[in-house]
Amino acid sequence: MTKQDDYKRLAAEEAVNEVESGMIVGLGTGSTATFAIVRLAKLMKSGELRDIVGIPSSVPTYDLASSLGIPLATFAEYDHIDLSIDGADEVDPKLNLIKGGGGALLQEKILAQTSRKNIIVVDQSKLSDRLGTIFPLPVEVVPFALHTEKRFLESLGAQVTLRENVISKPFRTDHRNLILDAKFGPIEDPYKLAEMLDKRAGVVEHGLFLGLATEVIVAGNDGIRRLTGK
Ligand code: A5P
Repeated sequence: MTKQDDYKRLAAEEAVNEVESGMIVGLGTGSTATFAIVRLAKLMKSGELRDIVGIPSSVPTYDLASSLGIPLATFAEYDHIDLSIDGADEVDPKLNLIKGGGGALLQEKILAQTSRKNIIVVDQSKLSDRLGTIFPLPVEVVPFALHTEKRFLESLGAQVTLRENVISKPFRTDHRNLILDAKFGPIEDPYKLAEMLDKRAGVVEHGLFLGLATEVIVAGNDGIRRLTGK
């Protein structure tokens, strides 16, 4: 395990301390969220946590959580989530985020907007003064709109690439959509950009998560820090 993995695990495990028996827990996607899910399953197995129900944010998370014996549900059964734990690709000082490196941004945002509390878990490399500095913005588009949305993002000044999977085929989200990774560089006004993207018919969702994180737990050289944006 690399040092970065270790930091991811530390942050994730710290977040799981916030889970209480009986909670409906939103399960994020990605390598950091995986550490949280593994820890959660462990505490459930040992009996330290009881009556937990998970709502997964992607097919891989569904597969992982069910393989570990975590009971899973959907929004058909529950109208809220008590606490979601998820990773992020970039975090700014106001706790605004870029997410979607794993391609699950749509479901992750649905989980985040339905959760009473969203804890984001990251290693120190994800902290940035301005979103867009270290990670391109993932934009999920319907296949029909691929070229028009690519041109639209380029017209806003981004360098845009179609995300591919390991065998160089276009990556498909759980909903069979495509992802455009838009390299903007430091984004001056994330709210304005989000508003422009929200208005586009071909854009299903984008990775700007603004005002959604309740708390960010970051692990690094200085140990574990809890950021609340205040
Ligand atoms: C998944 O779509 C993403 O939003 C992840 O939460 C994000 O990419 C962080 O991933 P890692 O924890 O693997 O760095």
